[in-house]
Amino acid sequence: MKIAVLPGDGIGPEVTREAVKVLKAAVGASKLDLTEAPIGGAGVDAAGDPLPDATLEIARKADAILFGAAGIPGDEAIPYAMRPGASLLRLRKHLELFANFRPAFLFPELADASTLKREVVEGLDILILRELTGDLYFGEPRGFRTNAAGEREGFNTMVYSEPEVERIARVAFEAARKRSRKVCSVDKANVLEVMQLWRDVVTRVGKDYPDVELSHMFVDAAVMMLMKNPKSFDVIVTGNVFGDILSDGAAMLTGSIGMLPTASLAVGKKGLYEPVHGTAPDIAGQNKANPMAAILSAEMMLRYSFDETAAADRINAAVRKTLAQGYRTGDIYESGSKKVSTSEMGDAVVAALG
Ligand code: IPM
Ligand code: MG
Repeated sequence: MKIAVLPGDGIGPEVTREAVKVLKAAVGASKLDLTEAPIGGAGVDAAGDPLPDATLEIARKADAILFGAAGIPGDEAIPYAMRPGASLLRLRKHLELFANFRPAFLFPELADASTLKREVVEGLDILILRELTGDLYFGEPRGFRTNAAGEREGFNTMVYSEPEVERIARVAFEAARKRSRKVCSVDKANVLEVMQLWRDVVTRVGKDYPDVELSHMFVDAAVMMLMKNPKSFDVIVTGNVFGDILSDGAAMLTGSIGMLPTASLAVGKKGLYEPVHGTAPDIAGQNKANPMAAILSAEMMLRYSFDETAAADRINAAVRKTLAQGYRTGDIYESGSKKVSTSEMGDAVVAALG
């Protein structure tokens, strides 16, 4: 298994270290061909570029990428090409990682960690499928300009082509076939032409999947339903911007963003796997961060890129066992449980692998 390991910034390195530890224990070090490379602020420090050419080359050659987090505080003020936080966006685009799987599931042990009532979130298992290489994030033209009145303006373009919508819609329907056979497409077709096209294309593609129930929802109503009755969803398919927002909302249903992994897939089996949480600069370098999202990202990698279902199942079972044993990092700590550090949590998962 040829894997590029890109730990990046903030808590990225410490959580990725635990994921690699668990991966080695689960499949055996001899089966792994791991190459580590710097990205984000670490890329700037090492090679003067948030996405160094050598890192991109390693990522291109790998079958899968295990990613930590990228970005430094105050990042937004740095021009895009040199911005550490944008290195991930550039990588997604270079590798055409268009299909972003963001599962939101609740481990039964963490039902009380959610701010929502237990009965609303208990048993939650939904999948947000976010289109990742289009929309406002990449649409041209974009930039700053001065209008006729001499005022500064910032502008972006929300755009989707039919093939872009069609390919993410197909991924959604295929994914639903392996789950509860329901797709809810989230758009804003009442206001935006780009979203009218989105709805038309998803509806057309849906005709090829008569066994999957398709519904449509405007994004504002969808966020309300996500808080009111999240279990009414199975697969949510949506664009890049709405998916960014909805998936953070869905993460909170599960108690902590520190528990959620994500997979970004290209056509074929190649994918990038990362924890949803980001760099968390406030706790970086303190061995406090929750490594579970990174560990579960490694699990997703085994499942999606390598068809190593048995090893993936073992990691998942080990994570559950570790939670059942009461081990908790600070973000999911509740009185009576055993508070552990990042590396202790990783060790506990390795021990639970048996
Ligand atoms: C995410 C993040 C990224 C995004 C940022 C870090 C650019 O919020 O993966 O959801 O907006 O896609
Ligand atoms: Mg986000």
